[in-house]
Amino acid sequence: MPGLVADKILVTGALGQIGTELVEALREKHGPANVIASDIRGENTKASTNGGVHVLLDVLDTEAIITLCRQEGVGTIYHLAALLSATGEQNPELCRKVNVGGTISVLEAAKECSLRVFIPSSIAVFGPDAPKHAPQVTALNPTTVYGETKVKGELLAQEYWEKHGIDVRGIRYPGLISYKAPAGGGTTDYAVEIFEAALKDRYYNCFVRPDTRLPMLYMDDAIRATLMLMDAQVDTLGPSKAGYNIDCQSFTAEELAQAIAKEVDGFTCDFSPDVRQTYADSWPDSVDGSIAKQEWNWSPTYDLDEMVKAMLHGLSNKQEVR
Ligand code: NAD
Ligand code: SER
Repeated sequence: MPGLVADKILVTGALGQIGTELVEALREKHGPANVIASDIRGENTKASTNGGVHVLLDVLDTEAIITLCRQEGVGTIYHLAALLSATGEQNPELCRKVNVGGTISVLEAAKECSLRVFIPSSIAVFGPDAPKHAPQVTALNPTTVYGETKVKGELLAQEYWEKHGIDVRGIRYPGLISYKAPAGGGTTDYAVEIFEAALKDRYYNCFVRPDTRLPMLYMDDAIRATLMLMDAQVDTLGPSKAGYNIDCQSFTAEELAQAIAKEVDGFTCDFSPDVRQTYADSWPDSVDGSIAKQEWNWSPTYDLDEMVKAMLHGLSNKQEVR
């Protein structure tokens, strides 16, 4: 649209675990009117609870994304809409369609409207042949369909960067732990569910083995990492920009249960692994985030005990408000 400065932000998948908190952070930083939340679900609202707009948008509808970006003067997309690993393995076709198809739609819109883009990748890009402390650069042979879609997402981001000059950045998020919105059907959901169960029932039956060790991060750190990467000067970013490993925590399910038991009297945890154990076993225990540290100075702030305290405090306050 002539004369319109394209500086608004569009978030896809905004009602999910990450979107709920990213929209809040972006609205705080840029002003509520400059951040458009969108999802395939929810109501169209001119003014949502935190003062911004929410629109219904299916990320498979490229034309709708382009029209919205042109009409509203969008300059940046945070593309969060996707199916996570556990849901994705139950419905691989839909997982490929939404995760790869949605990414192509967003990148095509970025090409048409000269947008900057953030697309999350995941530790699920690694397969069982990767070192258990996964380096930034190694063979990516995931055994989950979800992981395949995340590798494809990184490759697409690199392709659009190289062929079309689109500024696309991404982080290989570890399992994210938060309390503001429910976890969205991933393998790492046990590390979220366990907190609500501890406060409600003082008991959790965990769906992975006690010795299952995975990279994890508290949501406050994940949001901060996302904003830091998007604020970084483009000429500081090297070839890993489509999917950075980032330094984070690494603990077993049993260590998490023990850390919670120190804070919640009488809390106990059993372990009854299901199919999600297979996905967890195919991922690394920890990742080497030294390139993200060098290029945009990333380091996390929460350790396991601090994260457990923050989660229990946040959830208790939320339950009081309910
Ligand atoms: P989530 O499942 O909580 O939210 C995803 C949102 O996408 C949902 O609100 C859903 O309604 C929406 N959605 C689904 N299909 C859509 C479509 N066709 N059009 C528009 N919206 C649609 O997921 P999340 O945890 O917030 O994850 C966001 C991104 O981060 C995903 O790409 C995911 O792979 C990645 N990631 C998440 C984690 C984690 O632990 N949460 C870890 C690694 C990577
Ligand atoms: N936390 C995500 C999942 O378990 C990893 O991308 O699916």
